[in-house]
Amino acid sequence: MIIQEFESLHESSGYSLQGSFTQDLIASKVWLLQQVGKVTDHVGTVYILGSWFGNTSLYMVLQPEFDYNKIVNVEVNANMLKQSQQMLNHVGAKNVQHMLRDANKLDYRQLGKNGLVINTSLNDMPGRAWFDNIPTGTLVVMQARDQTQERPFHRTDDILKLYPLSQVLYKGSLNLQDPDTDYTRFMVIGRK
Ligand SMILES: C[S@@+](CC[C@H](N)C(=O)[O-])C[C@H]1O[C@@H](n2cnc3c(N)ncnc32)[C@H](O)[C@@H]1O
Repeated sequence: MIIQEFESLHESSGYSLQGSFTQDLIASKVWLLQQVGKVTDHVGTVYILGSWFGNTSLYMVLQPEFDYNKIVNVEVNANMLKQSQQMLNHVGAKNVQHMLRDANKLDYRQLGKNGLVINTSLNDMPGRAWFDNIPTGTLVVMQARDQTQERPFHRTDDILKLYPLSQVLYKGSLNLQDPDTDYTRFMVIGRK
């Protein structure tokens, strides 16, 4: 319902609003939130990098698996960020900030002690300053997939090789199907 209501808004990129709510992407986000919920029941500020249409934050509000103080959605696409904001307002989300910024230029000044950084856009996000700038000890969740032309990942250890964590709390994979192909999504949760 929410998707249909906002589909009339214009988009500026090939990644459509409807395409961000396919079954595989919904399953990926639910998997993420459930696994984070097994690691912690409360976090402070949550930075969501490459937040797209605010999909992860939407599920955090609609289907809570852990408590949080604040969400900061970070996205370089202004139209996507605007649609995200409208959807989150529509569901009555509180304490969600929408930040139009390159994740590689973040200083994480709002992270505080018990923060969480989520990046499910590893395939789509060149550069590594977004990771290097995360304070040591921060809880981090990363997802990536295979079967994609740009920056494919083939195992969880591919993620850890590029973005090493001092403590791995969860690593796993999920076999999925998008409208074009079968693929596997990999996820790592841990402390930087
Ligand atoms: C295709 S979407 C998300 C894909 C991921 N599979 C998911 O479901 O969350 C990737 C998003 O990352 C954003 N993005 C890419 N590079 C970025 C950067 N450096 N800073 C912030 N956002 C970025 C893009 O604009 C896009 O909205």
